[in-house]
Parts: sequence; C-alpha cells; structure tokens
Amino acid sequence: MRLTRRDFAHSALAAGVAAALPASLFSGCSVSNAARTANSAAPTSSRAGQFDSSSEIFFPKGFFWGAATAAYQIEGAWKQEGKGESIWDRFAHTPGKIKNSDTGDLACDSYHRFSEDVALLRAMNLNSYRFSISWPRVQPAGSGPANSKGIDYYRRLIDALLEARVRPFVTLYHWDLPQALEDAGGWPARDTASRFADYVDLVARALGDRVSDWMLFNEPLAFTYRGYLEGSYAPGRQSLLDFLRASHTVNRAQGTGFRALKAARPSARVGTAFSMSSCEPATGSEEDRLAAERAHAITNLWFLEPALRGRYPEALVLTSETAMGIKSGDLDKMRVPLDFIGINVYYRTIASAPSAFERISHAQQWLFPVKMTGGQQGPKTGNGWEVWPPALYDVVMRISRDFNRPQIEITENGCAYDDAPDTSGVIRDTRRVEYHRQYLQALARAIADGADVRSYHAWTLLDNFEWAEGFSQRFGLAYVDFKTQQRTLKESGRWYAKVAARNALPPST
Ligand code: FCB
Repeated sequence: MRLTRRDFAHSALAAGVAAALPASLFSGCSVSNAARTANSAAPTSSRAGQFDSSSEIFFPKGFFWGAATAAYQIEGAWKQEGKGESIWDRFAHTPGKIKNSDTGDLACDSYHRFSEDVALLRAMNLNSYRFSISWPRVQPAGSGPANSKGIDYYRRLIDALLEARVRPFVTLYHWDLPQALEDAGGWPARDTASRFADYVDLVARALGDRVSDWMLFNEPLAFTYRGYLEGSYAPGRQSLLDFLRASHTVNRAQGTGFRALKAARPSARVGTAFSMSSCEPATGSEEDRLAAERAHAITNLWFLEPALRGRYPEALVLTSETAMGIKSGDLDKMRVPLDFIGINVYYRTIASAPSAFERISHAQQWLFPVKMTGGQQGPKTGNGWEVWPPALYDVVMRISRDFNRPQIEITENGCAYDDAPDTSGVIRDTRRVEYHRQYLQALARAIADGADVRSYHAWTLLDNFEWAEGFSQRFGLAYVDFKTQQRTLKESGRWYAKVAARNALPPST
C-alpha cells in the first residue's frame, strides 16, 4: 500500500509531532522528472509501439510466472500450534481498526489448506510462488527458541511446492511483527534490527536447504509510514519521529538480515520487495519537476539507496541524525549488495509543489514539500486505483538505468474488482484480464528496452484479507467463498494459465 494515496503532510500534522524535529542532514534535490529521464535513458524506447497486440509477445527463456501472498492475509490459525501474537493480530482485534471488524483469524485458512493453494498454482502452470513467513509462528516472542510446529508447516508447504516444480520465493517479513517486539519498542527501537537478524538466521538454518530465493522485507515504506506515522496499519502509531526511527532501523535490518542470511546460506539469492510508483510532475514547472524527484526519492529510494549506496536519498529538505537515530558506522553497515530488486507496482504518482502558504502552515510540508496524488486519466480499479500500465514501464526503466541494470523481479502487480460467480458459477473478471495484459505488455517493452527482469508475480493467488480493508477488496486470480473456503479460479486465472504455459502474452482478439 502506498504513501502516494495519502497526503504525507496531512498525516504528520494529524500526528502533531512534526515541529518537534531537530535539524540537520539532507538538503536540496536535483535531476529531472521520472518519466522523462526513464525515456531518455532508454533510446530504444522509440520502439514503444513495437508490440502489436495482434501478435504473441514472448518473454525471456527461464522467466518465472508467479503469484504472491502474505502470511497474515491468508494463513489464519492465528493462535494455533504455538504461534505467538503479531501486531496485526492485536490491531485487527482492536475495535474500529479494520473495515467491518474483519480479522485475519481465519482468513483463507491456508495453514490447513495449503495443498489447495498449491493445486491452484499448478492449475495456472505457475513456476514461482511468493509467500511470506510469519515471524511469530516460527519464533513466537520475536527472540528465543523456535516453534518447531511453525517450522514444520513451512517445510510441508515448501516441499509441496518443490514437488509441484514451483520455486519457493520467500518473504521474511510481510508486516506481522511479533507483538512482544512491539511492546519492546517495535521498529523504531534499534534493537529490533538485531532481533531481525537472529530471526533470519533461524529461518535460514531451518529452511535454507529448500529455499534459495529470499526477500528480506515487503514494502518497507508502506509498513513504516502507515504503521508508525499515519496509523492506519499495525501497530497504529502516529508519530513522525517513530516513522523516521523505524525507517532507520529497517534500513539497518536490511544490512543485518542480509549478512545473517548469507552467513548461514552463502549461495542464497537475497533482495527486498519495494513498493514503487512512477512519479510524474503535475505540470511542466520547475517546482513540480523538483517535487516529482523528491516524490521518487521517498517513494522508490528511501529503502533502496541505503542498501545499494550506503546513504539516504534526498527526500527530505532537512532532517537530523538525532531524529532518525543514526549512529556512527550505521551507513556503512546498512550497505549490502542486494542480489535483485523486487518491485511491487500498481499505479503512478502525480507530484506537485505546495504553495509557499502551505509550506509555512504545515510543518511537515516544510520538511517534505511535495503533494502526491494518484493519476486521474485512466480507468479506476474497484478500490479506486488508476489503471496506468506505463507506470510499470517507467519505474522499471528508471531503476534499471539508475542502478546499472540490476536483476529485477516484479514481486506484485494486480487489481481489486468484486466480480462474483454468475449463475453458472463462472467468475468473469474481464477487467482483471485486461489489467494484467496491459501491464505485461508494458513489462515486455521494458525487457525489450534492456531491463533485466526475471519474473512477474500477480497479486494475488486468491482473494484474501486486505489489511485495513478487511475482506472488502478481492485481488485474487482465484475466488474464495469465505463461508465455505472454496476456491474457484476466475477467468483471469484461466487466462494467466495460458500465458504461463506459453511463456507469452497471447494476441488480443
Ligand atoms: C501491497 C501489499 C500486499 C497487498 C497489495 C494489494 O501493498 O504488499 O500485501 O495488500 O498491496
């Protein structure tokens, strides 16, 4: 979930803490707008129109076709077989936090039905499954001994995947921090980076004989921003200072986690799945162009540049080592050569500069002088996100150019529509088919223009618990009847099965 959906300034004001920030660190920002630089970096992008949708578009040999999920969104079994409480258990059990008072207590019951999930993957001819490990399921208190039953569950799931010839693609942290660690300070506390490294070591030892491809984090910006500044996600805090400190701990944890994983399993391939969005200026003005660069820095680089370059990007006008809790040596230690960059992308961001009046009347717009909204030109998905396939092309090309053509995995892309079974039981989600077709066309174009993209994972395998929106948004390729837990492939799932089998996008009819 993206920062761009909310007004950064407004939230911080609501938190009422922005003015407490001490001074120093970042200044200024430069460069040109995302869309333009991406294009100029890709001279071959004049071939943009090369894909005639009336012919089949092939993907590179060995390309991974996948679907993604996250533990809290599908597993259920929230306190079975030794699992500890997570911040999402606590948050969802707090009245008023989740739409319709939904919880992930049962979700898709994948803890007991994972074989059905693997069968869905097989039915769609997929060869990669991105899922996450619930930290409190394998280490209930966030430190100390492992829960062997929890480890066994993941062993069984992974063995079923290997048997089905599906690559297990494992996220170590998709937002469900053990509640005990939140009670000890959560992500804003420095020590959480050490706890994370111990957890990573534990998992790598237990499962690393079966798994070679890992993501340390899912969308670090989403969970730090929404969890600690906006308060709409667990643990529901609203503090700018906590957001800044959580950012820094997570950046340090990328360092400690990466090293722990490589120490335990030297041949492991390790990355992170970042939330990304192409950032376009609202107008051609110089102010909006700079605002778009700042938007790019906070949206796409806040957790990537520390890993790859050992520094923070120029996102904030001014911040402070004291406020973020940066200590001597930290920047070096958070620098790690991620083996790939995972990109979750759904839509684009339009950035503009606040007026002088807005800057002085909102403390946070002074610190982060950018207004960000979604685009308004394209059609909207069921949850109001603009369908804008060039966003995928632009962001992939920009990252490819700026980071010297890294390996990229598309770790999430998808849409919510509430299509339900018709009288014959068929779920005709034609808008989802069109969505994936168009985004995949954009991805194929980025690959043709030189990006090293290894995979595409649709969000999501099956309808599930969509965080603060509960079960009200259906992103799945498979429909879930939450009364019976019956799973049924939607038309989009059937279409995706053909794409994966051919390793190609079929011609549109
Ligand atoms: C992403 C999350 C994922 C899901 C999709 C819709 O931000 O990583 O868990 O909620 O959005």
